[in-house]
Amino acid sequence: MRSKIVAGNWKMNKNLTETEALLTELAAKLPDTQAEVMVAPTYVNLASAVRTLESSVIEVIAQNMHFAESGAYTGEISADMLLSIGVDTAIIGHSERRAYFGETDEILAKKVVTALDKNIRVMFCFGEELEDRKSDNHFNVVESQLKNALFSLEASAWSKIVLAYEPVWAIGTGETASADQAQEMHAFIRKTITEAYDATIANNVSILYGGSVKPGNAGEIFGKPDVDGGLIGGAALVADDFVAIIKAI
Ligand code: G3H
Repeated sequence: MRSKIVAGNWKMNKNLTETEALLTELAAKLPDTQAEVMVAPTYVNLASAVRTLESSVIEVIAQNMHFAESGAYTGEISADMLLSIGVDTAIIGHSERRAYFGETDEILAKKVVTALDKNIRVMFCFGEELEDRKSDNHFNVVESQLKNALFSLEASAWSKIVLAYEPVWAIGTGETASADQAQEMHAFIRKTITEAYDATIANNVSILYGGSVKPGNAGEIFGKPDVDGGLIGGAALVADDFVAIIKAI
């Protein structure tokens, strides 16, 4: 049985005071839910976020991590550093990391291996760009992103992986994939994993949708059989909106 998950990726938003205020409000308003709820504040506020949410079921996760164990990588954060403050899930492969920071499939494959070696759960993001969809190449792009970064893993590694399908054209644009488009892609992802591994692995992996999810569209998207939750950007920065999205699952 796969988990339902709602995760908020705060990206480069909220200073320390704002982070504490939003987390405190979220913890107080968190509805009863079977879903796992996660938040990814910026690195500098992770340790304080863990402390603020000490007695909450909301999990604090990282937006990124480096593939190297330690060493001369100025500005980077290692798996051990995350573990040392109580963070054991990391988003890897977000399209903004790919687009603005040159993260290739090859780099992401290394990050995934390091994370899993360290027993860090991976929330792996991928998705096509607008031109790929317009040229009807979106299935090929998604298949190759999965293959290049994940399909060399042993079958057992998949229990520590969550997938987040995020069509780049729907991120922060107000343009959402329709619930049917999301379902079509999520079903394709499960079929692709079944072919590469087997149906048990494909059926047990949670696949989240991300891209302009809001209180008004979350219910319809989450209602699709292969959509197991969402990775939420902008709407995760407003407690009432994030809570409404959690209630929609
Ligand atoms: O990580 C989250 C996604 O990039 C979605 O962002 O909800 O602002 O479109 P968004």
